[in-house]
Amino acid sequence: MDARLTAAAPVVTYRRDHQAPAWLVPEVALDFALDPTLTRVRTRLSVERNGTHDLPLRLDGAGQVPLSVTVDGAPAEGWTIEDEQLVVPLTGDRHVIETEVEVAPDRNTQLMGLYASGGILCTQCEAEGFRRITYFPDRPDVLATYRVRMSADRRRFPVLLANGDPVAQGENADGTHWAEWHDPYPKPSYLFALVAGDLAVNRDTFTTRSGREVALGIWVRAADLPKTAHALDALKLSMAWDERVYGREYDLDVFNIVAVDDFNFGAMENKGLNIFNSRYILADPDTATDYDYDAIAAVVAHEYFHNWSGNRVTCRDWFQLSLKEGFTVYRDQSFSADQGSAAVKRIEDVRGLRAAQFPEDAGPLAHPVRPESYIEISNFYTATIYNKGAELIRMMATMLGDAAFRAGADLYFDRHDGTAATCEDFVRCMEEASGVDLAQFRLWYSQAGTPRVSASVEHEPGSGRALLHLAQKVPDTPGQSGKAPQVLPLRVRLFGSATGAPLGVERLVVLRDAAESIAFEDVTERPVVSLNRGFSAPVIIESDRTAADLAFLARHDDDPFARYEAMQQLMLDTLVAATVEGEADHRAVVEAVADTLDDPALDRAFVAEAVLLPSENFIGDQLATVDPEAVFTAREALRRALARALDQRWRAACDLGERVPYTYTPAAKGARRLRNVALHYLQAGGAADAPALAWAQFEAADNMTDRQGALTALASGHSDERDAALAAFYARYADNPLVLDKWFQTQALASRDDTPALVAELARHPDFSLANPNRARALIGAFAVNQRAFHVAGGAGYRWLADQLLALDPLNPQTSARLLPPLGRWRRFDPARAALMRAELERIVATPGISKDLFEQASKSLE
Ligand code: PHE
Ligand code: ZN
Repeated sequence: MDARLTAAAPVVTYRRDHQAPAWLVPEVALDFALDPTLTRVRTRLSVERNGTHDLPLRLDGAGQVPLSVTVDGAPAEGWTIEDEQLVVPLTGDRHVIETEVEVAPDRNTQLMGLYASGGILCTQCEAEGFRRITYFPDRPDVLATYRVRMSADRRRFPVLLANGDPVAQGENADGTHWAEWHDPYPKPSYLFALVAGDLAVNRDTFTTRSGREVALGIWVRAADLPKTAHALDALKLSMAWDERVYGREYDLDVFNIVAVDDFNFGAMENKGLNIFNSRYILADPDTATDYDYDAIAAVVAHEYFHNWSGNRVTCRDWFQLSLKEGFTVYRDQSFSADQGSAAVKRIEDVRGLRAAQFPEDAGPLAHPVRPESYIEISNFYTATIYNKGAELIRMMATMLGDAAFRAGADLYFDRHDGTAATCEDFVRCMEEASGVDLAQFRLWYSQAGTPRVSASVEHEPGSGRALLHLAQKVPDTPGQSGKAPQVLPLRVRLFGSATGAPLGVERLVVLRDAAESIAFEDVTERPVVSLNRGFSAPVIIESDRTAADLAFLARHDDDPFARYEAMQQLMLDTLVAATVEGEADHRAVVEAVADTLDDPALDRAFVAEAVLLPSENFIGDQLATVDPEAVFTAREALRRALARALDQRWRAACDLGERVPYTYTPAAKGARRLRNVALHYLQAGGAADAPALAWAQFEAADNMTDRQGALTALASGHSDERDAALAAFYARYADNPLVLDKWFQTQALASRDDTPALVAELARHPDFSLANPNRARALIGAFAVNQRAFHVAGGAGYRWLADQLLALDPLNPQTSARLLPPLGRWRRFDPARAALMRAELERIVATPGISKDLFEQASKSLE
């Protein structure tokens, strides 16, 4: 069978087919003779028949062949290989199986299993990477304790790490050394990890509330050691936070983190040995932005929190992925909210949800938070599983209240500790602990699509009664139509349009039916409704609020998220009108922005968020058919109007923090954020001195936030300063891969007519490489979300993306598949663009030998 046919008839895995494992593996002992060119892995499994059956033992494998197989010490008889599985017939109920394989870390470009990154040997096993290391039932409901022994050349690999606690180490006669680690907690194979390398460590300790002293270590190349302090601080804060907020303590004597440069995702929660993409560990003010610092703390917290939500309680099967990911994202979001401004954090999280998850839910790759089927599980590490999944947990917390939610979490951790659980188990614990009926709420797990809520207010001045009319619709998505109404917890408050005063307290309206009317009494003046405050439900609201109402809320709402939201809606309405009609009245937006800038009670980080225009993509999402040029033109016109009308205010904001040395505090971060937003507006206004202002900031900056902010502001224009800044930035950071990523990304995101051509040229730059996922994402991923550039008439952007994906796929199918979704949005564009996009998807699907990862994404995108 040729590769094309293999790809065309992929195996689909269904949730409904899940069955308990036929064999359990209580204990694993692994012995690695590590070498980058050829590593030998010897594995001893104690296996136990699970229930009464006569099925053989089936061990998953991928890419290797068994050099030997023994059962209870003797060569095994009658074993076969079926679809890369090692099938061993067994007669008794308990046996010891030993296998031996060889793998080649140096040639592992897909970064799954055992691979080499910059001279460090490391592993990545989630979701199905362990089978690339050895034969094993590679599914999350087979929990084993692991004993790991490894030996390696002492000079090249002086540090040898694995899960759990170190047990012993020593020297061999041949110049190699060895170490042994033991993890007493039963775990699924996807949490296995080992690392060997020439690493330096930043050490600290954390004493848990019950008095256990935990040795913490962050392991990096020696040169990067000064950049590990922030991550280490975040780790300690996370450990204390999980004790305080969830009552969860760390459970081993050692917690290690290793940073590597080549990594498919952000980081991985392997038990006691987290492995990180170095971009989520390394930071100093000269090379990392405030955004990077925040992301580092969030990802360190996320992986740490997985120790309970993921590791102690894991997932029964991969359809339950959101059980650990949605909950853990919710936990890391709550942690970050507690570190600084909760309102700004919520604004950022909602912006992220709207940028990534809403389009996914509205497109061909839409899937429920608990999917029903997949071809390649790696394709389901999505914004829906992670971010919408987190919103589901948040809604339960909102409906249950803090105390009952905590009781539900306690029950969940206690009842399911040491087991592989399901989303249903989690919901049932919440239900039992609170007494709240969550039967209808479960639809959030099974129905895809973003619910749309229409809202209008009817006021009867005579009776003092106001009616809030609400209606919901859950849209059809691929394979799902005619959906039932969901449970939507909407935080609501009314404000008097004349006085600006709140009319009564905030209410939690839980909408369950397709349509409901909610009565409010004692409404003495015409009310303006503040709805879905804090973004309490992840829905799209369509309301009849006028520009005046929105401007009013942007000024008076006491919920900071709702205040931001009113401003965004006002901007969005203006921009949609301008896109469709070619022009719009900018006055309401200009006034609201001026008021926000002038309000001394608001913190600067909030102001910076509130005065930012919606992205081109988000404006496009509101339109029946996206015209990227029209969107860009409308947005530029509003930007210019704001820039010119408020020129003095932007200049004042630009001066913020001038000559104040860098500190990483919420106030200093807010000042930097606002000054960078202001600098961007000034560029848009076209003032003669705008490039010089940005250049001055670029030159004087003592931190990356200001330096990159200035570079980004310049990058979209045409000035000598732009060229000089790009050249200076490159020269200064040529040997820092994480900062060079910013250099590529900034140019890929720039709004210039020639961006498509510049990006194509950058792909031929000597520093560009498809082999490094960060670099590939910095250029390809950024370009594909640059709406105007990617969708340039004629389809050059689509062709370029497809070419890159096809070149990347043989190296790293996970990363190529994850970069495909922008091509699948063809239904949102005019027929000419849609045809060009489809043609590229068809070309991808028709390419012989593509991975099932890319095949699944491309073929589903065509449906
Ligand atoms: N489980 C990781 C996380 O969310 C993500 C991940 C998935 C990393 C697959 C690598 C591979 O923390
Ligand atoms: Zn996670």
